[in-house]
Amino acid sequence: METSELVHIEEPLEEWDGELLSVRHDRQTGAWLIVAVHSTVLGPASGGTRAMHYPSPGHAVTDVTRLAGAMTLKMAVAGLPMGGGKAVIALPRPKAAVDAADWRRLLNLYAEVLERLNGTYWTGPDVGTGSGDMDVLRATTRYAFGASSALGGPGSSAPATAAGVFAAIQASCAEAGFEGLYGRRVLVQGMGAVGSLVGELVSDAGAQLLVTDIDPARCRNAVDRGARFVASADTTSTECDILVPCATGGLIDAATARTLPCRVIAGAANNPLAGDGAATVLAERGVTYAPDFVANAGGAIHLVGRQVLGWTAEMVDERTAAIGTTLQTIFADSRARGITAEQAARDLATRRLQPTVRVGS
Ligand code: NAI
Ligand code: PHE
Repeated sequence: METSELVHIEEPLEEWDGELLSVRHDRQTGAWLIVAVHSTVLGPASGGTRAMHYPSPGHAVTDVTRLAGAMTLKMAVAGLPMGGGKAVIALPRPKAAVDAADWRRLLNLYAEVLERLNGTYWTGPDVGTGSGDMDVLRATTRYAFGASSALGGPGSSAPATAAGVFAAIQASCAEAGFEGLYGRRVLVQGMGAVGSLVGELVSDAGAQLLVTDIDPARCRNAVDRGARFVASADTTSTECDILVPCATGGLIDAATARTLPCRVIAGAANNPLAGDGAATVLAERGVTYAPDFVANAGGAIHLVGRQVLGWTAEMVDERTAAIGTTLQTIFADSRARGITAEQAARDLATRRLQPTVRVGS
């Protein structure tokens, strides 16, 4: 979808199979606070809050409904007792241009929205929000994951997400026939909370790191440590072995998939594939693709594990590392059935979302 096209708010909803959409407009700042509950089959819906500029509320609804659906798949594949949801705080200008008082006001309003949803949806950090924002929300609502450890919360989800992505990269490299990461060219797109940590992990494993970000300043630390800078416009045309999308998604459509000069794609970005055909094109070209909702589940495992299930940090580490094993199973199923890994992962989630018949009921 071109960002310049006008998108009416009802357009993305006509095809959506979710349960609930809550929309609140704040006239003073011009922001829209939108919560999408995709599924509560496995438990209360959960997913992060994305705060960023959208060209229109319709674009925000398109994004939030797709992201909420991905959370349902993520929770199911990760075996977590939560459903899928997502929220956006759609800002009329870039987040950096929103002043602190307005942002605080929006968070307070958003906490009210969460309270009204009464636990149907639990939020957490995502692009544009972090532990500090969760601390503010927690002052007036129970329904926020990821408050800072100083306030007794589980803290940032980014390290666990990065660890899970690293496990996914290793499993995907094995599937592609690579012997380890040593000397491999790894291009990380999006050097934010997760991407910068993934960059460190692959560098420590001996890979050659390439980095790109729409904001080049975010690449500075990695470049100072020896990474090669790639201009944002060259992301999908730069030769590399492993592409690691860690930005906002929609990077690869079917046309891009036909020419991408890499052998493996595994990253944190939610919904990096745009449209239905991209996964098939990648599979036909022999590019190993780790489905995003499998590879990036580490954050969800950390937040839900620590805050709902009472897991220790070691249990979170174990479950996050197991993302690699889950991917091996998905790749094996995809080979055996001649389907894409994306489809095999969706099938796994669908099986887990089936209502179970209880003995005696
Ligand atoms: P972040 O906001 O800290 O970092 C995102 C980075 O991407 C920023 O440096 C930004 O400048 C850059 N960026 C944005 N648009 C771009 C574009 N078009 N081209 C290049 N760079 C661009 O976000 P975070 O937390 O690192 O998340 C990254 C991705 O991973 C998002 O898609 C998020 O939904 C997903 N994710 C994050 C998790 C977490 O625990 N934080 C968990 C699972 C998924
Ligand atoms: N936003 C992150 C994700 O997409 C982390 C998160 C998981 C936040 C679960 C809230 C709940 O996985």
